[in-house]
Amino acid sequence: MELKIEYSNDSFTSEKLEALVVFVVEDSDLSGSGLSALPGDLKKNLNDSIKLKVFTGKKDKSQHLFSGYAKIPQILAIGLGKKDELDAETLRRAAGKAGKMLTLLKANKVGFVVTSLIQNAVEVDAGQVLVEGLTLGAYEFNTYKKSQNEKKNSKSITIKCCDPEKLTSLKDLKNGKIRAEGTNLARTLGNTPANDLKPKDLAAEAKRIAVKYKMECTVLEEKDMRKLGMEMLLGVSRGSREPAKLIILEYTHQQAKQTVAIVGKGVTFDSGGISLKPGKNMDEMKFDMCGAAAVLGAMKVIGQVNPKLNIIAVIPTTENMPGGDAQRPGDIVTAHNGKRVEILNTDAEGRLILGDALSYVVKEYKPDAVIDLATLTGACVAALGHLTTGAVSNNDALMEQVRRAGNISGDRVWQFPSFPEYGESIKGKYADLQNIGGGDSGVIVAGLFLEHFVDKTPWVHLDIAGTSWNVKHLGYQPNSGATGVGVRLLVDFVEEWQPLK
Ligand code: BES
Ligand code: MN
Ligand code: ZN
Repeated sequence: MELKIEYSNDSFTSEKLEALVVFVVEDSDLSGSGLSALPGDLKKNLNDSIKLKVFTGKKDKSQHLFSGYAKIPQILAIGLGKKDELDAETLRRAAGKAGKMLTLLKANKVGFVVTSLIQNAVEVDAGQVLVEGLTLGAYEFNTYKKSQNEKKNSKSITIKCCDPEKLTSLKDLKNGKIRAEGTNLARTLGNTPANDLKPKDLAAEAKRIAVKYKMECTVLEEKDMRKLGMEMLLGVSRGSREPAKLIILEYTHQQAKQTVAIVGKGVTFDSGGISLKPGKNMDEMKFDMCGAAAVLGAMKVIGQVNPKLNIIAVIPTTENMPGGDAQRPGDIVTAHNGKRVEILNTDAEGRLILGDALSYVVKEYKPDAVIDLATLTGACVAALGHLTTGAVSNNDALMEQVRRAGNISGDRVWQFPSFPEYGESIKGKYADLQNIGGGDSGVIVAGLFLEHFVDKTPWVHLDIAGTSWNVKHLGYQPNSGATGVGVRLLVDFVEEWQPLK
């Protein structure tokens, strides 16, 4: 559902809204929630429901109430939890909850209130966070539901930000919307089934972004990859009828002094190849391009917020299928950087396509830092579940910047150790490397495989296998399907970028 944003800073005297979203701190009256500016009748009824403990402002709790005030008949009261625990992520989740409620509400115009209590609890602009949460929460994927499609997709709702204390601005609200819409693009790319989203479709999306936001887009075809010696990527693609692509999207800024590369895994379907996956949940492997989706979503936002940095986005994209010409366990291929790699499991394909992409981008663009995002290992889901992205890095200062961006954006990150001993198991028997270790600590081993292709460039690998989908019952996240994880992390990262010492 599309949200249209309006802004007003007069104090409710003229407002006529079908509903008002209010965020309430736990166990406080409304003045304690900074809502003393609300119109009298509305305030009285809401206060009564708090006194009667119909609604107490507990975190994750919400209540749909009738206000008894004719100009604003309905209230969506959303709990924020305890005042001293309030932070931006709590606010974003509360707004997300409200956004979900809006999709069910029959209303065309709804308001929400920004208060100094909320603004004081967060470092960033509260209006931005609220619009971000609302827009993320209101996301729906119903392209394939014929009956709902016609009604819902055309449905849009006007959201009026009521800001009697003059705390935020239309520009900040728009920023929240841009960030959420980039995330929602990544979600839709992720949710689209693999029969409708092939490598060529990711390339088409990249070209659309390039045209719209004046970026440079190059798509390398298999013949180009052959010349460049990218046998790891080509090897994965052999089992599929769909040609692989290497998508390069370049954003440059006139005043940029540095360049950052972002690389996203774009396996549009991962059957495992000849090392075929079991049938259970194999449908979820349409999400194996969520790294690519995060990179595209981030570039869409970057095109609108114009950070002073050059950003090179690279997406290796292919299907991993077991066709008659598929690569076999035991095959040995030569990577873009010349290393020989023995394929011991065709299902460890992400690291192969990323290895060639990483090697290419560090050689051609000499970036000051590189970040890759990939749904790389089931081991990461086992270790961290669905709430935290795993990281492996060769540079502490860069890792710290990524961690910070994770905390600001809500896409939180946790680093794994990467002591060199963990890399012993992928030393090759017949070649330089092999693509699986055969032991435990799968997240780290996969990360250390990638490190062989970054040639000392400061690098952070983000394993988003757990966080890309199936994040249930979390404020602004959909209860099923892709989350768009990584988009806002990447945006905050490039916006906060500091040259490494
Ligand atoms: N795309 C998968 C990783 C994955 C699995 C993500 C399940 C989310 C849920 C990846 O290509 C893969 O198959 N990894 C293997 C590696 C193994 C063969 C070393 C895995 O994790 O099982
Ligand atoms: Mn796989
Ligand atoms: Zn995969």
